[in-house]
Amino acid sequence: MDTAAVYAQFAQSQAVNGGSPIYQDWARGVAADPEVCALLDTLPEPKRQPNLLFAAARLVGAPSDGWVEVRSWLLAAWPDVERTMRTHATQTNEPRRCATLLPALAAIDGPIALIEVGASAGLCLYPDRYSYVYTSPDGVRTRLDPADGPSAVLLPCAIEGPAPTRMPDVVWRAGLDLNPLDVRNPADLAWLEALVWPEHTDRVETLHAAARVVAADPPDLVMGDLRVDLAELVSDAPAEATVVVQNSAALYYLTPADLEMFAATMDRLRRRRGAVWLSNEGWTVLPDVAARLPEGLSPQFILARDGEPVALTDPHGRSVRLL
Ligand SMILES: C[S@@+](CC[C@H](N)C(=O)[O-])C[C@H]1O[C@@H](n2cnc3c(N)ncnc32)[C@H](O)[C@@H]1O
Repeated sequence: MDTAAVYAQFAQSQAVNGGSPIYQDWARGVAADPEVCALLDTLPEPKRQPNLLFAAARLVGAPSDGWVEVRSWLLAAWPDVERTMRTHATQTNEPRRCATLLPALAAIDGPIALIEVGASAGLCLYPDRYSYVYTSPDGVRTRLDPADGPSAVLLPCAIEGPAPTRMPDVVWRAGLDLNPLDVRNPADLAWLEALVWPEHTDRVETLHAAARVVAADPPDLVMGDLRVDLAELVSDAPAEATVVVQNSAALYYLTPADLEMFAATMDRLRRRRGAVWLSNEGWTVLPDVAARLPEGLSPQFILARDGEPVALTDPHGRSVRLL
């Protein structure tokens, strides 16, 4: 797909509830702008993505104005924006996804050694340190707090199906990422903030609150590739704990062959180590998982346990529908 078409498709995707009207306007503008598309085409293809351009532009200082003003700003600031795009990657870390992962995680008896592949800054490695309020379709609210009391991070989530009633017993946690981010580093935190769509100010507040929780007890984040380095990290987990490997919005750049290899690794870890695999990915990412869904569902994300769909989830953790 050429760059203009990628931006036109992205603009279309922002039309849904929860999308970003500002990014929709910018993406439409880029799609209709051969000069800006030509600049983007000087970058390697994976670096031309709308989320990367817009986050890099905002990190450099783009105004949250309409496309006409932003275009003038972008052409003048292009060398800085381009450098930022070349040195950064889209690594949005959304702690709210813990709310959609929790029903599956809380169902696993502890103690749990939690490993996240594609962990970014590790904000989803602390599900037991956040508070949750689940609201059912008929308005029933279920609140869950950490063992030592309410957290400064409160994650609201709509739920269809039984809300979890206990916290997971996480005794050990570690993450694997091609480029781990450190929430104690102001530059990394600024990048994580720039990756949140401009209108989502509540997500920025949650990001900062979760970053403070994580900074107080930083996770073990290993630089590595989930395709090759997972088994070694699993071998570090305490023997008495059930290993849970989770991935969330992390597998979308893998090729079908890579995905098969990863699924095979998880299968081996399940048989040899009793590991549990929790996957929360866009519904096109793991076709074998999507094929197991009942007919007629059009989910955005699928939460699966050991390859079996258990819930449909909102990509930013706002809702979960248990199957
Ligand atoms: C969009 S972020 C999601 C972060 C987190 N899982 C969440 O849900 O908030 C995806 C992360 O996966 C990492 N990633 C992508 N491919 C990877 C690979 N082959 N091995 C390890 N990490 C990878 C990226 O560096 C990025 O930090």
